[in-house]
Amino acid sequence: MEARMAVPPEARTDTPPSFDAAFRAGLEALFAWRRDVRCFHTTPLDEAEYAALLGAACQAPSVGFSQPWRLVRVREGARRAAIRAIFATSNAAALALQADERAGLYARLKLAGLDDAPEHLAVFVEPQPGTGHGLGRATMPETVAYSAVLAIHTLWLAAAARGIGVGWVSILDPQHVVRALDVPAHWQLVGYLCIGFPAEASKVPELERAGWEHRLPLADLLVER
Ligand SMILES: Cc1cc2nc3c(=O)[nH]c(=O)nc-3n(C[C@H](O)[C@H](O)[C@H](O)COP(=O)(O)O)c2cc1C
Repeated sequence: MEARMAVPPEARTDTPPSFDAAFRAGLEALFAWRRDVRCFHTTPLDEAEYAALLGAACQAPSVGFSQPWRLVRVREGARRAAIRAIFATSNAAALALQADERAGLYARLKLAGLDDAPEHLAVFVEPQPGTGHGLGRATMPETVAYSAVLAIHTLWLAAAARGIGVGWVSILDPQHVVRALDVPAHWQLVGYLCIGFPAEASKVPELERAGWEHRLPLADLLVER
């Protein structure tokens, strides 16, 4: 008689929850209302809530299951001050690059909530992770960084679902951020996140409200072949 084989753990399946119409409607509202937040209340976040956001980030998909994101919770005042100084320098340089007719509008935009957000989270990617055994990376090495972007987006949605705002700051010299945070020199900065309770809410992106850019219709973005 044939011996009964134990089911290897990787072959087991679980019963997924069912996502009903009410859940989908809520999820669509979440997509519509998730905003990049630059104005925060200084109210601290509950530690368990914050931990849940980090846990959500780590549930993101990643190439070869490499999980290449590296999360740095920036708590020290001196390091936050260094980041604010890097932003000020980078933002002044970005303003100087604006065309004359855009410079005035650019100067009026608030492009970071670094002063008030109770949490700062720097997200880096380890470009050569020891995990994942190279799967998927030989043809598209950039997928390692894409994986870290997905971790941010997963955190962003998890935060919005809790009424917590996230602001993505990219107007930073990445090498200066690496030095300011004393992380391995080869880590690449993916995003510097300000996290906290939003001071305002809108269904329309702030850059659209400010007249900087508008949402494109799907027809402009979709190609069929
Ligand atoms: C990769 C990336 C970098 C961004 N960098 C900045 C930034 O430096 N400063 C800023 O104010 N917003 C930044 N944002 C937020 C965008 O401006 C924002 O997502 C966009 O205007 C659409 O608004 P919404 O996120 O509220 O829908 C960034 C967003 C992404 C995805």
